[in-house]
Amino acid sequence: MSLRLGVNVDHVATLRQARYVTMPESKNAEPDPLVAARVCERAGAGGIVAHLRADRRHIQDRDIERLRQNIMTKLNLEMGNTEEIVDVALRIKPEEVCLVPEKREEVTTEGGLDVIAQRKELEPTIKRLQVAGIRVSLFIDPTLEQVDVAAELGVEMVELHTGRLANAFTEKIQKEELEQLRAAARAASESHMQVNAGHGINYKNIALIHQIRDFSELNIGHAIISRAMWVGLETAVKEMLRAMANYPG
Ligand code: PXP
Repeated sequence: MSLRLGVNVDHVATLRQARYVTMPESKNAEPDPLVAARVCERAGAGGIVAHLRADRRHIQDRDIERLRQNIMTKLNLEMGNTEEIVDVALRIKPEEVCLVPEKREEVTTEGGLDVIAQRKELEPTIKRLQVAGIRVSLFIDPTLEQVDVAAELGVEMVELHTGRLANAFTEKIQKEELEQLRAAARAASESHMQVNAGHGINYKNIALIHQIRDFSELNIGHAIISRAMWVGLETAVKEMLRAMANYPG
């Protein structure tokens, strides 16, 4: 099974907002996340990821609309479970929504969405999105408890948080985290959910990802956008795709 790459273009918008936050209509506003998305697709990305935050710190509603209308692959909208943002998703109808924590109390100790504690709030949102034809993913820590509740909530996908693996500063933590991810990915796959992964994946630690089976898609932002400064975005995406090739999953 080959791994698909979703490129997160948030940081393209971060750079634009750094200069143009007070002049959103300026003809000079750049760089444009849609132009970036097109380059990523041309380089072979299987999808585009964008996170619409409640404070609109990078991606704007207009970006989501333009991405939805113009990309050729699929749009994965990352978002918190707030009424206002859910309304935006239901209006724009991306192919996929990945629910992520918006507020502190929704976060587990490791940083994923705590679907056990948030179950009651998540249930109606998941249903509303699915009824609108949107496939739903939950961004969770790689624990069996979180995976079990995600399965019970009836979502199509989970995205396992790889931040702890990416930031592991001892071999012991790295080994523990690999085990956790392996077990969680297996359990999610056995529960018939698509298994994605994301957060902190870069050109070096991607080798560790090859040690975990069951992944369908990786969602990567920071490493690719950073690398693009030196080699250009198309090459940065192609290099990541090369690093993902021959995945044994
Ligand atoms: N997946 C999710 C759910 C995220 O919140 C993020 C960060 O926005 C990513 C993937 C991408 O993480 P990174 O930018 O570290 O590659």
